[in-house]
Amino acid sequence: MGKSEQTWRNGISRRQALAGLASFMASSPLLHAQRDPWPLGPHRRFLGFDEMRDVFDFEPLFRANVPLSIYDYTAHGTESEFTLYRNRDAFDWVQLVSGGGVDPDTVDTTTELYGRTMPSPIMLAPTARQRDCHPEGELGMHRAATTVGATMIVSNVSSFRFPEIAEAAEGPLWFQRYATEQMGPNEEVLGMAQEAGAETIVVTIDQQASFYERDLHVRHTGGRARTVTRRTPQNPPNPYRVGAGRLWYTWELFDALKPMCEVPILAKGILTGEGAKKCLDYGVEGIIVSNHGGRGIDYGPSSLEVLEEVVDAVGGQVPVIIDSGFRRGSDALKALALGADAVCYGRATRWGLGAFGEPGAQKVLEILNAELKQAMAAAGVKSIAEIDRSIVKTNFP
Ligand SMILES: Cc1cc2nc3c(=O)[nH]c(=O)nc-3n(C[C@H](O)[C@H](O)[C@H](O)COP(=O)(O)O)c2cc1C
Repeated sequence: MGKSEQTWRNGISRRQALAGLASFMASSPLLHAQRDPWPLGPHRRFLGFDEMRDVFDFEPLFRANVPLSIYDYTAHGTESEFTLYRNRDAFDWVQLVSGGGVDPDTVDTTTELYGRTMPSPIMLAPTARQRDCHPEGELGMHRAATTVGATMIVSNVSSFRFPEIAEAAEGPLWFQRYATEQMGPNEEVLGMAQEAGAETIVVTIDQQASFYERDLHVRHTGGRARTVTRRTPQNPPNPYRVGAGRLWYTWELFDALKPMCEVPILAKGILTGEGAKKCLDYGVEGIIVSNHGGRGIDYGPSSLEVLEEVVDAVGGQVPVIIDSGFRRGSDALKALALGADAVCYGRATRWGLGAFGEPGAQKVLEILNAELKQAMAAAGVKSIAEIDRSIVKTNFP
């Protein structure tokens, strides 16, 4: 037997060597730190607070921080989500015309709505259950809005009661209501909100039958979709998210609600000039052009492309506010140029809150306001009053 053959026979086998190495590694304290919970996926670094540059930067952090069901609830639109995406596409169809020659530091975004001076026309849309995004919920959101002077619309389905939210900070609050068919609860809730300082009442009249396929697939829990309407005698079985509770709305609703309001009453969810005129007929004092962020009827238009139709129908009689798909400050400028008086941001504010709590929501609003100033400067306008139709060109399909 040759020397090398002797070595093979008497030395440890390759298998033994590997087994020895493996058991050494398994007992090494160094390696314990690298076991679960890290997945084997590619390494990705999340941006830190100081690295947030635009609103989109907050979205992956929001997604990482909340359970997937909460993420889906915030992200989803109806059915094939055509309108959800169209809301974003619409901004590609509006060009800003460069004006030039204005220093952003000299741009003034101050405006006025219902007798209140606002540092910016950028507002917070009502979105439900904000404690799902962050333990501070609406309390943190209100504090963030107050710090930047933004007006917050508080949802009817908030995680905290309206008076608690109102006490969390000093800033202006509006209250949004999904009216009930029985008028007693409306009277009670609207009274409570106005007593606690709501400066307007926003009545949401869209979202009557939404079908959220993303949730119905329940791809992450394997359980039952939580948004399917519960079967009760009052609520017959149907696959839609919104049950019979909201299917009865008629324009006469405003006849019933107006006497309950000592503050201006607005309608949220208008998408046609005809709808806007109806609002005026029924004494509505403000209109929010909205498709609920693509969560109402699918294959409807983006709110931006119908804005001018609504503005023309209203003829300056009441303020026109818009939401759905807004993510940048320049988006707000496009809407202001097409006749809006103010712009609401929904998901963007939730991303900020979910990513970093109150400071995150504050930063989102600060970024949006800074972007609006930049865009106004680039378009050559120094104040909200100077914004007009001439700074945009539209190319809606
Ligand atoms: C998670 C979520 C919850 C919402 N909850 C409400 C609500 O309680 N009341 C309401 O009037 N609108 C609600 N909306 C609609 C928003 O007020 C707003 O119309 C929409 O978010 C605007 O679109 P955007 O998210 O693209 O900005 C909600 C929207 C989202 C995304």
